[in-house]
Amino acid sequence: MINIKSAREIEIMRRSGKITAATLVRLMAAAKPGVTTGELDRIADESIRSLGGVPTFIGYHGYPSAICASVNEEVVHGMPGERVLRDGDLLSLDIGTTLEGYVSDSAVTVAIGSVSEAAQRLMRVTQECLMLGIAQMQIGNRLGDIGHAVQEHAESNGYGVVRALVGHGVGRKMHEDPQVPNYGNAGEGTILRKGLVLAIEPMITAGTWEVETLEDGWTVVTQDGKLAAHFEHTIAITDQGPKILTLRNVAEHEDADRYRPAEEVAA
Ligand code: MF3
Ligand code: CO
Repeated sequence: MINIKSAREIEIMRRSGKITAATLVRLMAAAKPGVTTGELDRIADESIRSLGGVPTFIGYHGYPSAICASVNEEVVHGMPGERVLRDGDLLSLDIGTTLEGYVSDSAVTVAIGSVSEAAQRLMRVTQECLMLGIAQMQIGNRLGDIGHAVQEHAESNGYGVVRALVGHGVGRKMHEDPQVPNYGNAGEGTILRKGLVLAIEPMITAGTWEVETLEDGWTVVTQDGKLAAHFEHTIAITDQGPKILTLRNVAEHEDADRYRPAEEVAA
């Protein structure tokens, strides 16, 4: 069952999203060679709480941490701990905030120190995939339009699209209907309506799209050990088009004014 959100609910989710966005900005600044993923987790936990939210991921199916920190061939759900980040690592950071009962969910991939040109290109194309998917969040479009846009851009750049994990509706719960695959056919699937809030989260791989889960029960890695990148936003469909509730800053995309008024800078 798909939950349609009222303007009031979207406003709360926007405030939740600002906490997520501001916390991701802090993490991006802190993610440097020599820092452990566990230190980033503590920064996130303290940031989310100090801004009035609760880290959504803690306790989710027993997950112990506020963030997922996935390095290099790790795609998503890497568990923070003693691992020391090294120059040249590619780090995906995924966080969620619950505020007044509403969840926002967002992820970025960042370079640790200086990374290869191949890694930079993978990051750039994955972020472009996210923005192209978001651009399809128009009233009257179909769910398949989102996945199609993401898949087309990834595959035309020679990359793989992870199939085993998908984006999702988001609201009172982190994972609501509908599922939002990063692949699919244009013109197919559920009609997009005003008040639908989705987390779109392309997981894009340099090699095969096939993944496996490590013995910790969480960490998802590429089967061929090649790099992966992951970007995610929580977005509402409004009369004015898609509104990114977890937007970090205007510079994040070229066409910012189409998505949000200028006063809504999160961080
Ligand atoms: N952002 C992730 C998602 O959309 C959630 C991380 S799983 C958790 O599925 F267990 F860490 F919460
Ligand atoms: Co998500």
